[in-house]
Amino acid sequence: MKTESLEEKEVHLSTSSIIRVLWPFVRPFIWMLLVSTALSLCITFFELMVPICIQKGLDEFILKADLSGKASLLGFSFHNFQDFALFFAGMIVFQFCLGMFQSVFMEYAGQKMILFLRSSLFAHMTALPISYFDKNTSGRLVSRVAGDLENMSEMFTSVLAFMARDIALMAGIVVMAVRLNPVLSMYFLWLIPSIVVGTMVFGRVTRKIFRTIRQKLGEINHHFSEVITGFLAIQTTASQNIFMERFAALSLAHFKATVNQIQIFSLFMPFFSCLGTIAMAVLVCHGGNLVLEQEVSLGELVAFLTYNRLFFRPLWEISEKFNVLQNALASAERMAVVMAEPVLELSSSKTSADDLSAGFSIEDIEFSKVGFSYERGLPVLQEISFCLKKGESLGIAGHTGSGKTSIINLLTGFYPIDSGNIFINGKDYLKFNVEELRSKMALVMQDPVLFSGTVRENIAPWGKDISDEVLLAALENAGCSFLMERFDGLDTILMKNGHPLSAGEKQLLSIARAFAMNPDLIIFDEATSYMDSNSEIAIHKALEKLMKNRISIIVAHRLSTIRGCNEIMLIRQGRIREKGSHEKLAALRGEYFHLLQKEFI
Ligand SMILES: Nc1ncnc2c1ncn2[C@@H]1O[C@H](COP(=O)(O)OP(=O)(O)OP(=O)(O)O)[C@@H](O)[C@H]1O
Ligand SMILES: [Mg+2]
Repeated sequence: MKTESLEEKEVHLSTSSIIRVLWPFVRPFIWMLLVSTALSLCITFFELMVPICIQKGLDEFILKADLSGKASLLGFSFHNFQDFALFFAGMIVFQFCLGMFQSVFMEYAGQKMILFLRSSLFAHMTALPISYFDKNTSGRLVSRVAGDLENMSEMFTSVLAFMARDIALMAGIVVMAVRLNPVLSMYFLWLIPSIVVGTMVFGRVTRKIFRTIRQKLGEINHHFSEVITGFLAIQTTASQNIFMERFAALSLAHFKATVNQIQIFSLFMPFFSCLGTIAMAVLVCHGGNLVLEQEVSLGELVAFLTYNRLFFRPLWEISEKFNVLQNALASAERMAVVMAEPVLELSSSKTSADDLSAGFSIEDIEFSKVGFSYERGLPVLQEISFCLKKGESLGIAGHTGSGKTSIINLLTGFYPIDSGNIFINGKDYLKFNVEELRSKMALVMQDPVLFSGTVRENIAPWGKDISDEVLLAALENAGCSFLMERFDGLDTILMKNGHPLSAGEKQLLSIARAFAMNPDLIIFDEATSYMDSNSEIAIHKALEKLMKNRISIIVAHRLSTIRGCNEIMLIRQGRIREKGSHEKLAALRGEYFHLLQKEFI
């Protein structure tokens, strides 16, 4: 049900907005498109000359039964049929070569554009605020990067190349036909308004259908990725049937939308075919009469029949490509929606030079009456204030959902604050480069994040040049001796999510990462929650070493973890209820004292 509400919120953009957003990504390649269009126009010119050649050949040589007659074409004079035929053949070969070059060039331009768009989309997505990823599931985002880009690639490479050529061809036919014989040209040009109206109507209807198809596909991807990641939970709760039913419903919705599309297209194609045949019949009947009445030459009628066929060929092609085009436009819209999404406000552009000087380190942190909400009107944190200097530590305690992780999310710049201020070294934290700031922090989270790759890459993943000695010392400090005993130490290869390590082992490894980073600020968010008491004691000892001369923030449910901190903050419903040293809070006999009592029971 949730997926539906997510999809309902999808924004729809007008074609002009789509072009405006995607234009910067197309602009660097516009010269390629222009060259390709120019080539298309050359090809079109030669295509348009074919019926004229046929007409000249018929009227000047064949119908006169005089193979040594005279004809002129494109400024050239021919004194016999052989020269004329050679010229005609040469023109067709040249047109063929030009066509081949044009399609390779266009394909190249299209692929280059997609390459640029793909990397820009990826860079843009990685700069989006975390809140965007809360609202957009990975399945939907993957379908954008993979499926939508693929559709657009098809549009650039196969549709645009043909469209430019086809439109130029149709326009050229109209001009040539009117010049050759205005009366005969009326016999098929009267169809143009019906073709334009028909195309517009089909365009509107099919775009809507393609949008639905892409949307349903995104939902299917989302559902699928959810099932795969939560496979264990689904099996243990025996809820396969519920997920199967949901999946079947989504697949059915996708199927219905696709059938709808097929039905519309089964109308669209025969519509053009029918128009072409009517035009041909009208030309043969009325044109034939005009030939008999000797008002029009046979060569002219044959040229017109060829133009008629040529005129409907691009229409056929356009109608065939319409499918791809409409699909691509729906994809372009989804892409433009992501691209129009504002990037994280705490951005690099706000950097001031002095903060980034080489010697910059976090000396102190101050939260001053900070307020925050994930969703407007539902405050999660209110009036949070604390101050920490180098060498000091802050313990945060509180019930589940009280807002402990949220405080950390603000400090790391994952979410912007609503009210109050955060100061780093006495300066507004917004003035700092967020990436620079994060590189000075080590965050050990409730659910450790490990990537597929070696242990070495996992504990020094930011391309920092850290020696193996330092990394091995970090592993030792974090109690990761199991890596040496059972695995290959730094060269151990880990799969997705740190497989095959246990939850506790993963946490130890993420602690080793904190050691290796040598940060100014250490943040532990329930980092010892998966550990046995022996490992926890070992970590505490290591932590004490690590905390020296740095700022540390430790979030813990177990109060024994934070009792040594300089200051402890007890949070309830997003507000600080008690604050002070362990001794002070224990003596208060308030909430902290009660929590402490419960721990000893
Ligand atoms: N991304 C989010 N979007 C909306 N609400 C959120 C989000 N993350 C957390 N919340 C809500 O904010 C409140 C505080 O969450 P937070 O994760 O800070 O709690 P916590 O104190 O760390 O809890 P725990 O001890 O279980 O880790 C909770 O009510 C939670 O439901
Ligand atoms: Mg938490």
